[in-house]
Amino acid sequence: MTVISSKSATIRSAIFQQSIYISGFMGTGKSTVGLELARRLALPFLDTDRAISAKVGRSIRWIFSKKGEAFFRAQEIDLLLSLTHQRPQVISLGGGMVADPRNREIFRRGLWVNLNCLPSVLEKRLQGNKTRPLLGDKKSSIHSLLNQRRPTYNLAPNQMDTTGKSVDAIAEKIIYLLKRAKR
Ligand code: S3P
Repeated sequence: MTVISSKSATIRSAIFQQSIYISGFMGTGKSTVGLELARRLALPFLDTDRAISAKVGRSIRWIFSKKGEAFFRAQEIDLLLSLTHQRPQVISLGGGMVADPRNREIFRRGLWVNLNCLPSVLEKRLQGNKTRPLLGDKKSSIHSLLNQRRPTYNLAPNQMDTTGKSVDAIAEKIIYLLKRAKR
C-alpha cells in the first residue's frame, strides 16, 4: 500500500515538474480552471492578462486602445519567455496567444491543454462584456474570431470540453489527461 502511494507520488511529481499552459477562446474558463488546477497540484498560478495589466499599470482595454494590439502581443511573448526561467506553474493564457507560433513553441515545452466550449455558451458568457477589446457588440465577432482561431486551438495536444461541466470536474479530468500527457 505504502509502496503504491509513494510510487504514484513520484510519478505525479515527475509529471508536474513542467508548467501547465491553459489556452482557449475568451470565456472558456481558463482562469477559474487554472486556479483550481494550481490549488489541487500545489503549484503557483499566473494569469497572463492580469500579469500584463499589473506590469503596465493599466487595464487590457486601455493597453489595446492607447498602445495598440502589437504592443500587447509583444508583452505577452515577453512575459511567456520570462516565465520559462521560473519554477513550474499553472499559466492561464490570454485567448489570442495561440496565434503566435513562438508562443506555441513554448507551450509545447510544458503541458499544453486547450479548453473548448460551445459557441452558444460563449455568446451568453461574453454578451455585454466590456473588458475584452476584440469583442464588439455583435455575436458575429465571437463567431468569426473563433473560426479564425480554431485551427490553432486545435494544435494543442490535450483538449478539454468545458461545456456544462463544473470547475471541479474539469480540473479532475485535466489532471487525468495530463498524467497521460501528449505533447
Ligand atoms: C484576447 C483575449 C483576452 C485578452 C485580450 C485579447 C484574445 O484574454 O488577452 O482581450 O485575443 O482572444 P481572455 O481569453 O482571458 O479573455
